[in-house]
Amino acid sequence: MKKIIITLDGYSSCGKSTLAKQMARALNYVFIDSGAMYRAITLYFIEHAIDYTNDTAVQEALKHINLEFDYNESTGTSDILLNGRNVENEIREMRISNLVSDVAANQFVREFGVAQQQKMGLQKGIVMDGRDIGTTVFPKAELKIFVTADPAIRVARRYLELSAKNPGITKEEVQANLAMRDEIDSTREFSPLRKADDAVVLDNSHLTREEQLKTALQWVNEKINSEVVL
Ligand code: DC
Repeated sequence: MKKIIITLDGYSSCGKSTLAKQMARALNYVFIDSGAMYRAITLYFIEHAIDYTNDTAVQEALKHINLEFDYNESTGTSDILLNGRNVENEIREMRISNLVSDVAANQFVREFGVAQQQKMGLQKGIVMDGRDIGTTVFPKAELKIFVTADPAIRVARRYLELSAKNPGITKEEVQANLAMRDEIDSTREFSPLRKADDAVVLDNSHLTREEQLKTALQWVNEKINSEVVL
């Protein structure tokens, strides 16, 4: 069957990765978490005291960053490797979440991320989630989904997920982090978060995982069949 590129964009914590993983599994596609790449770059910047506002330092640092994805049998998805080191868990910490949007807004960081993501799409058969995947990374993707969810529901979901890994974290902290990231991600100068004109909207506030997958797979079928007919 013809393989396509599927993009999932949207605000923080609206369930993009969950849906992307479900779709990749159902379709036997590769799932790429583009946010993990910006998070790993942020971890490198913290560890090497790189000032993300200093373009010269950023450009130099990027020359020393190698990002790869490594399939993890136990989770059934890929972990990100930063210069060969598995940092999948570390990049989910709040110290990264608090800085990643600022780092990801840097022009050179974006060029670096986008170029690598575009290379990963050459083979098709890919589901990639992020903020600018349907607008900048794959503007010609066959299926673009813009995922949304009620802000209060997003906070509740993220809090549940984070409190297991970050004991002591409060709901207010999670809410503030999401609001801050949404603001930076959607107002930045280079490839801000926005819905692509040809994206379909999926509001999963009141959908179960099964329901959202069913809807998304219907769209995939429609796209694949319409391509064949044309
Ligand atoms: O999806 P996430 O929450 O793990 O993403 C972390 C941050 O990375 C997000 O706040 C903005 C940035 N990001 C981006 O700028 N572009 C992408 N394609 C993906 C993520």
